[in-house]
Amino acid sequence: LIAVLSPKPLAGVRMLITAGPTFEAIDPVRGITNLSSGKMGFSIARAAREAGAEVTLVAGPVHLDTPRGVQRIDVRSAAQMHDVVLPAAARHDVFVATAAVADWRPAALSQHKIKKDGKKVAPTFELTENADILAAVAALPQPPYCVGFAAESEKLAQHAREKRVRKKVPLIVGNLGPATFGRDDNTLLLVDAHGEQPLPADGRPLDKLALARELVREIAARLAPPR
Ligand code: CTP
Ligand code: CA
Repeated sequence: LIAVLSPKPLAGVRMLITAGPTFEAIDPVRGITNLSSGKMGFSIARAAREAGAEVTLVAGPVHLDTPRGVQRIDVRSAAQMHDVVLPAAARHDVFVATAAVADWRPAALSQHKIKKDGKKVAPTFELTENADILAAVAALPQPPYCVGFAAESEKLAQHAREKRVRKKVPLIVGNLGPATFGRDDNTLLLVDAHGEQPLPADGRPLDKLALARELVREIAARLAPPR
């Protein structure tokens, strides 16, 4: 009876989520990272679990508690995230890429701490591009339903549409900043094959957990359209 009164829209659905920043080492004590808090991905993991999904959360370096009932795998670099996600993706029905994956890493990793002594000029670092995890998952022979994120500082709808096409994913979730980056309440823009829609529909900012629950509802609706 309880199940009938509160049906779980994602019961039996396996969802893989990436969250947080990545850390690209320069030497044993230094690296390149970004300010992603991981909160959106962790909120989606919690909301998806509440909706009945089996959730695997691949997290970059963040200090957040693992949502109850969620399987968490911690990684540091984009390459490690890629190597965990790619084999796991085939065992999941949905892939939600919220991680702020570093686009580049230092081309060479110094085995020892780079020392200042004796150097007359500051060191420079060559960077090399990291693989696009979302595009790689979307290119699998039988990909899970892929949801990408696009954090932009301008032309949100246009950039989100372009990312959707470039990465060949059915759904992109746009987030316009920088005023809202790192804040707890926000609105999103969903871009799919049918066009664009604000989330929530009334455009009133919601906190990340409420937004995550709305987004999980939207994803569930796209997996099993109402008959
Ligand atoms: N993404 C990924 N692997 C990467 C880069 C991005 O999986 N190496 C994913 C992100 O998790 C996000 C989506 O791709 O879901 C878009 O990331 P974004 O940084 O906005 O796109 P980029 O293609 O890197 O474009 P740019 O940073 O130039 O805007
Ligand atoms: Ca990027």
